[in-house]
Amino acid sequence: MADSDQLPVIYDPAHISRLYVAVTLYSINHQLYLCMKQFIIASAIALAVWACSGNNSSGNADNSNTTSSEASGATAGYDTARGTGRFTNIELSPTLDKAKAEAGQKVYDVKCAACHKLTSEKLVGPGWAGVTQRHRPEWILNFTTNVDEMLQKDPKAQAMLEICLVRMPNQNLTDDDAFAVLEFMRQNDGVK
Ligand code: HEC
Repeated sequence: MADSDQLPVIYDPAHISRLYVAVTLYSINHQLYLCMKQFIIASAIALAVWACSGNNSSGNADNSNTTSSEASGATAGYDTARGTGRFTNIELSPTLDKAKAEAGQKVYDVKCAACHKLTSEKLVGPGWAGVTQRHRPEWILNFTTNVDEMLQKDPKAQAMLEICLVRMPNQNLTDDDAFAVLEFMRQNDGVK
């Protein structure tokens, strides 16, 4: 007992050295354990990543196709330059239709002036200065004739709603009214 106790000792008492060995072994063990733990977690993550990517590329070809086309359909299917509504592709004359612009001013006075200034100053809605440069003609026509759906779906309209905090009410414009107001906006933006 006494002999073997004295064997590996540099400092005197044998039990200290045994304690030392025990502590060292324990800490090595513990580090190994932590290491293993990290290794296991890392492999689990790697496995999960591998499993997921494997699924997409080979697994269920039908499924992954539909999900990816649906996902891109949700974003790419919506034309943010056009908005949503019955107007698709509007080419306007580079010159102003004065009679139309005048008719548009009448609509503006009655139905829009309460909320829209002709400067860039916000009233209830944004001021109209530059509005025909901010949006394509079809976007403006769709917005003014289909405002509820536009506020529901259109990112630019929703961004304005977040600033104005008021939903623009449907003004029940006819297509003629809408074109007339657009011409008035163009006049306001300097088209001659
Ligand atoms: C009761 C207030 C109100 C009235 C009336 C109103 N609007 Fe608006 N309008 C808004 C608000 C508010 C917005 C910003 C979007 C939102 O918050 O709904 C807006 C946004 C717009 C925009 C986009 C402006 C931009 O800077 O991009 C256009 C175009 C527009 N309105 C046209 C019209 C037309 C045309 C009329 C009249 C026929 C009209 N509005 C009447 C409140 C109104």
